[in-house]
Amino acid sequence: MVSVAAAAYRAFYGGVLSRLPEQTAIRIGQSLLRALPLDRCPFFTLRDPRLEVTLGGVRLPNPVILAAMYYDARILARAMGLGFGAVTTKSITRQPRPGHPLPNLVRSVTAAGPGLVNCNGFQNPGLDAFLASMRGLRHRVPLIVSVAGESEEDYADLVRAVTPIADLVELNISSPNTKLVYTWSERPRQLREALEGARRAAAVPVSVKISPDFPDENERHIIPAAIAAGIQIVNYGNARRVDEPRLSQKAGGLSGPAIFPATLDNVRRTRKRFGAALDIVGTGGVDAPDKAVALLDAGATAIGYFTGFVTRGPFLARRILDALLARAPRA
Ligand SMILES: Cc1cc2nc3c(=O)[nH]c(=O)nc-3n(C[C@H](O)[C@H](O)[C@H](O)COP(=O)(O)O)c2cc1C
Repeated sequence: MVSVAAAAYRAFYGGVLSRLPEQTAIRIGQSLLRALPLDRCPFFTLRDPRLEVTLGGVRLPNPVILAAMYYDARILARAMGLGFGAVTTKSITRQPRPGHPLPNLVRSVTAAGPGLVNCNGFQNPGLDAFLASMRGLRHRVPLIVSVAGESEEDYADLVRAVTPIADLVELNISSPNTKLVYTWSERPRQLREALEGARRAAAVPVSVKISPDFPDENERHIIPAAIAAGIQIVNYGNARRVDEPRLSQKAGGLSGPAIFPATLDNVRRTRKRFGAALDIVGTGGVDAPDKAVALLDAGATAIGYFTGFVTRGPFLARRILDALLARAPRA
């Protein structure tokens, strides 16, 4: 049943969505997601104690996380019923941001499969409007609220403000398509202060999302700074910066299966280097159950994906859960 539905979505993506201009495809995809009550269909969720994990001490019903992209409460509510063990919000900034001008998202098809390149530029409604829109959102699974700032104060203030509605907070220091956060990776000392301030301001566990573009800095400075600041979760990671002449910014973040080998390598190395001191979320390129399994086997505590949600549809989480359960010891 799940594999038939997944094949039908693949045909819909390949035959319809991937042939439309990107902005039209996004509009159609998001309208369908808002309109269709898929989350009421029990078919997507699979509850089994063998799938449960803890992330920074927070219990997740399973280790499959929807990565940061959506801030719309209706879409987040739907996603919470589509099999995910946790759902992440788009990175929220203090002030509303219109995002970069169009085109800010294009498809990138490589031998590895369909991917995306975006220079979204944190299009979001800003802290106050976001908080108001989240009122009444039922957390069927934990909500990870992502925030992005420019200064130490930004991160502390944002974390303090979102803590009441978050089960976990994620500090985005790694989106490659705006100066707003990307340069944090080049300022490790100041970053440490920002991480400490954010962790102190949070009444819930904090995760830091890092960039696959800085493996050496991550290992030598950024992850040690996070651990020293009392942060126990690292999300490795964000999209990879590439030149892309079709985008308004002429560069953006590559996501999807082309970045999977680096994600696997980063997770394996980080687990080996830092041992049990960290919970690791492996994000970047997961678009099939075997990739999720490979990341967990390499030491990830949980896995995240966004592009796979677009290219493989809402059935992917359930397919991953089936694969995980098939290899779990019998209850
Ligand atoms: C259109 C778009 C918008 C995104 N917005 C955010 C964001 O606001 N914050 C963030 O941390 N990551 C953001 N990401 C990155 C994803 O959360 C994810 O880390 C990245 O795409 C790699 O995973 P994937 O290959 O599964 O997509 C965005 C990705 C895309 C494609």
